[in-house]
Order: sequence, then structure tokens, then C-alpha cells
Amino acid sequence: MTTAAPEPKANMGQPIPRYDAVAKVTGKAQYAADVPLPRPAYAYLITSAIAKGRIDGFDLSEVGKLPGVIAIVTHEDAPKLKEAKFFSNGGYISTTNQPLKSAEIAEEGQIIGVVLAESYEAAREAAHRVRVSYTPANPTASFDSPGTTAARAKGQLAMFRDDPKVGDFTKAFAEAEVQFEGSYETPTQHHNPMELFATSCVWQGDQLVIYEPSQYVHGLKNGVATQLGIDADKVRVVNSYVGGAFGSKGSMTPRTAIIASLARELRRPVKLVATRDQGFNIATYRAETRHRIRIGARRNGKLTALHHEGVELSSRADAYAVGGTKTTTRMYDCPNVDSLVSIVRADRNTPGFMRSPPEVPYMFALESAMDELAYLLRMDPIELRRVNDTMKEPIGGKPYTSRSLMACYDEGARAFGWQDRKAQPKSMADGDWLIGYGCATACYPTQMAPAAARVRLQRDGRTRVEIAGHEIGTGAYTVIAQAAAERLGVPVEQVSVFLGDSDLPPAPVAGGSNSTASTCSAVMMVCDQIRQRLFKAVMPDANLVDKAKETVGIGRTPATDAARSGQALDREKAFDAMGVSVVEEYGEWKPDGAPMDSFRAMHNGQMRMVGGPEFKNGIAYAFGAEFVEVRVNRWTHEIRVPRLLGAFAAGHIMNPRTARSQLLGGLIWGMSSALHEATEIDERYARYVNDNLADYLVPVNADTPDVEVILISEQDNKINPMGIKGLGELGNVGTNAAVCNAVFHATGQRIRKLPIRLEKLEI
Ligand code: MOS
Repeated sequence: MTTAAPEPKANMGQPIPRYDAVAKVTGKAQYAADVPLPRPAYAYLITSAIAKGRIDGFDLSEVGKLPGVIAIVTHEDAPKLKEAKFFSNGGYISTTNQPLKSAEIAEEGQIIGVVLAESYEAAREAAHRVRVSYTPANPTASFDSPGTTAARAKGQLAMFRDDPKVGDFTKAFAEAEVQFEGSYETPTQHHNPMELFATSCVWQGDQLVIYEPSQYVHGLKNGVATQLGIDADKVRVVNSYVGGAFGSKGSMTPRTAIIASLARELRRPVKLVATRDQGFNIATYRAETRHRIRIGARRNGKLTALHHEGVELSSRADAYAVGGTKTTTRMYDCPNVDSLVSIVRADRNTPGFMRSPPEVPYMFALESAMDELAYLLRMDPIELRRVNDTMKEPIGGKPYTSRSLMACYDEGARAFGWQDRKAQPKSMADGDWLIGYGCATACYPTQMAPAAARVRLQRDGRTRVEIAGHEIGTGAYTVIAQAAAERLGVPVEQVSVFLGDSDLPPAPVAGGSNSTASTCSAVMMVCDQIRQRLFKAVMPDANLVDKAKETVGIGRTPATDAARSGQALDREKAFDAMGVSVVEEYGEWKPDGAPMDSFRAMHNGQMRMVGGPEFKNGIAYAFGAEFVEVRVNRWTHEIRVPRLLGAFAAGHIMNPRTARSQLLGGLIWGMSSALHEATEIDERYARYVNDNLADYLVPVNADTPDVEVILISEQDNKINPMGIKGLGELGNVGTNAAVCNAVFHATGQRIRKLPIRLEKLEI
């Protein structure tokens, strides 16, 4: 465990309340669908009732002369759109199955028509009165359905380059003192953000304004411009707040260009709020996965061989895969590692990013297997991790920029009371309740991307920060305000932050947990540019100016710098010396190792994310250790989770309050994923069955009584100027396995297929 730099007196690292707390609790925060539009037409989607086949025709006789209906648009008369490249291959769109192009149906819930009406109610009623006749074909639903095709992921998508491999697995496994093999499965899951998939499009002449919840306003802007065949500078995307996203709003979905083109034809603003059930199909989801893990080890627990095979489901249109072997093959020290990721294609909508996309399913498999191995070896599961802990990843031999995994285990174990655990499964009980303790490793790659910012400082200290970052509920406004306040030496209350508008300087997608590191690094760099100008004005001495120009490292602030130079920066004096009342700077920041075309790509809304295993200065990850207590009723098999605890190390914590909130949410979601969540599929029709929040199980407060987050201090000066590691997607990694491991400890029964429902327990 490393010790933190002395806490700066100013703003960074302080648990200040959310910048947007008052706006949110008073209902003043305006979400995309809240924006009032002049005389809008309301759109309602008509979606396919079959998953495969073709449309024979539309019978509109029951729509009749329903008042308020403006138009019903289908593939027969929809405006033609240009193609957009798939997001995970360097493009913009979440699926290349573009609807309303022809009579062909390639997935259930595909958009097959749009009703435009004077009111939402009229549009909805008309949509439900449209009768569609189909010629259905037999769809393929999932892994075991007839008609799937399977192929190696390598070569099919840009985001997964190769299967990690080192040494000779086959030989080492054959010769291992202890061999373990296990298969694991994770189900289909949907993000279900509270805010629905809404889009409002307003044309002002040839300028288009889109109000839509998006994790990537520059991506959406450029993607819609591509599909409409117009200049990207004619498109503006606005969303001051996003009501949850978790990856589902990271890439452009086909709905946006459709609504934009209809608004252009109609010469009126058009507003769409897709329904909860439509959201299961018109956006992405976490696809089901299967895993086979083989581990060879010595009797002392030291790994000698590891093989991870993953199989993922995708659509016919797109080869999507999360490819989590890039993480699992590098997690523990092991000289002989092999892996293989394959993609199975079925008649489904294209899956996509969902909170910790690779790590959640793949670490479930690895961390379940590690727990099984620990029982096989009669070892404490934490000790097994300790024996295999490493500061160097085994595939490429790169050093971890920092790794506090065992510090997380030690702190977490102490706080959880792990020493009270009896090693033998099914040996702890409280009356009718069997008690189990489980733990697992959490991890998430530290990623960053180029970002730009504009900062304006007034003589009185009031500051305006502009950056097209995104407030998806994480606390982006807050940490950016803290960064600027710290760097400029002004109170945080004097900082106004503007996000969520593609007219602002570009920032990357709010995904891959890169936002805080990327946006704060850009904002701090621009604040430093301002500070240098001020220093220059009051300290013409070249030596002092050079000092002020140094990139400020961890724990250093304008104040400490000035103290070092023996002179405090007097802001008002500097402004007077310059003869101005406002200083404004713009700058573009990129992380170490970002490619040459980074800034151009940033303006074009194309991702240039760096970090994780491919980081230039090593391998960069945040870590955590998660602990779960379960209680399983011996008669009813009801599973309760009275306690969840996570200890996490994620570099410099910008704000412990918002960080804790992210990690709490992650732990709860992780538990939910283990015990509750699954999208049920009717295999006959390749249809999602529980596409609403009544049937799609999520935990309520009564399911999550006691959740504790411990932040372990960690300093990492290799990743970015402040040493920030992303943590938004850290909390829900490992939780699936920790819950399963606890259920095994309680019952002696190993569940290898999520979710764990009581009917799966035979105790
Ligand atoms: Mo996250 S799934 O990268 O939005």
C-alpha cells in the first residue's frame, strides 16, 4: 500500500457535494426530452413482431381518420439514409442493420415504421392500430439454437486484435501437479437506464439541433451528419444531463438519423420517446457468454498454466465481442497462458457496451475458477491470489504502473471480518440460514483519450469551463469544477461548468471509465496555460516564469508552486498588470501513447482510447477486492445478501463522495447481476420476454441492506498528470463471482450459470 500525497488544502480530493445536486433534487435539471420545442410532431415507433422474415404489407384501415395523425412512414416511403460504419470498427453506429431500408426483418423489435402525430397519445394509438402482415422465417435465438454460425473473434473486429498467449499451455497443463477445469455462463442483460431512449430533432434552416441522451455528443454529431450526408458542422447535439446510460448511449443508434430526416421532411421539430420495451431492441445490451477455464497449478497454489476460452453472442449484421481475455490472461502471474474468443451469430439485435463490458463476464469465470481452485487446494482464497500476485503482466512482460490488489484484499478482509470464516463449506449457520462468505478480485483498465477544453477566468475569480464531456450521473460536473478551482486557486463555488453540447470543445465518449482522467487532465492543462499568463504578468523574472510553466504534478497546486517560488500569485494584480478583466484559453490534451491522428479524430468524433494492457508506460488497471456475505434459507433456498464490502484502489480520487457513490452502485449492480438480472428469451421466436421493469428483476432497498466502500490510497505518476484511474466500471467487476463463491461456501453447491436463482439450489 502506498501513502497519499498530503491532501491539498483546496478542492481536489475533497468530498464536496455534487455540483448538480440542487438542480437534480429540485427537478430543474433538464433532460433531453424535457426541452420544450416549438410546435413539435410526436413520433411513435412501430416495431417488428417477428425476428426474421419479411414484411408483406401494412393495413392502415383501422387507423382510419384518427384525429391528429400526420403521417405513417414505412420502408416504402422513408427518407433514404447513407451508411454509417460500426462503432466498434472505428465508426459511429451501434448496429449496421439500418431499419426502414427494405421489407427484410433481421431482428425482433426492428423499427419498421414511424407514426407522426400532433400528440404522443395519437401517435401511440395509431401505431397500435397498424396491422402488419409478415412472411416469417425461423429465427435463431441463441447459442444452442439451430442455424448459428461461430467463428474466431480475431480478425472480425478492430477492438479485439488478438488472442493473448504466452509459453506452452498444453504441456504445462498436462504436467501440472493440480488440474482444474470449469465452464461458466452469463445471461443476456439489458442496461435499463431510467431515462428512456429519447430523441428530439429541430432544424433551423440547414442547421440541425438534436436533444438526445448520449455518452458521446461528438460521436453522435458526426455519425448523424454521415447518415444524412451533411456537413458535421451543421449538427449540434445537446444534453446537459443524461439519466443513466451504462454504455447503452455510447454509440449512435439508428433512430436518430431517422427522426432527423423526418423532421427535415416535415419542416417541424419531431420528438421521440421510445418506450421501455422498445429500448430492449432499438439499443444495445450485454449478450450472453460462455467460458471454459483450465488451470494448472502447483500444490502451493502457484499457477503454471491458464487457458480461457470465451464464446459470445452477436447479431447477423455485426461481429461484436467484448473479448475479456485481454484482462483475464494478465491478472495473475502464470508462465503458460492461452486463450480464444469466438463469436456466435444469431438473429438478434447487435449487442454492445454495458458497464465493464469485458470484465464482468470474463472475470466472473476467472474468479469463480480461482475460488474453485482454492477449495481444491484447501487454501484460503485470498492466499491463492497473494501467491499469484504480480507487478508484471505475463503476456507481454510489461510492469503494472501501480497495483494495490493485495492491499485491497488485506484492508477489505479486515473490515469484513474474513478471519471469522470457517474454511469448510456449509459449516456456518444461523438457525435456518446457511451463511457463506465469498470474495473476488475487481479490476478495470485505466483508459484515457484526447480531450479539449476552454476556460475563462475573470478578475473577480469567476470561472467558466467548457468541455463537451458528459454528466451521466457520475459526478462529471463536480470533479471538473474541482480541477479548475484547484488549478486556478479560486473557490469551487465560483466555477461554472458547461458539458453535454457538441458546440463545446470535444471530449471523448463517457465510456471505458476514461472521463475523469481525460476531461480533468485537459481542463487542468488549460488552467495551467491561464496561470502561466498570469505569472508572466506579475513575475517577469525568467526563472520564476519557467518554474510556473512546469507541469504541475501530484499534490502540487498553484499555491504550493507560488510558495516554492517565494511569491504568491496575486490574481487581481496580474489582471491589472495585463490591463484586462478576462483571460481565456483553449487547449487540446492527449495521453501518452495516443496516436498521431488523435486530435483530428477527436474533432471527427472517433475514439482514440489508450490504456489498459496496451498502455505505453506499462499495464494500467485499477483494482479492488470484494467481499460478500450470503444467507441461504435451508428450506426455501431463498438467498439474501446482508453485507457487501469492496476495498478499491484507483489512483488519485478526485472526489471521495462521488467515487464512493459510483462504487456503491457498482457493488449493488454486481450483486443484482449475480442474483436477479437476466433477459429471458423465447427461443422459438428469438424474442425478449421480460422487456419491462416489472419482469426484469432488479434489487430494491430491501435486497441491499449494508454496503461498504473502502478507498485505498494509491499514487501513480505514470498514467496521467494527476494519477487518476477510472473507477465508474470498477465496482461491478468481480461481484458476480464473489456472490457465487459465497453461495458455494454457504451451501457446498457451485453455481456456474448466472443468475443464481433459488430453483438452481439443491441443498
Ligand atoms: Mo461504459 S459500458 O464504457 O459506458
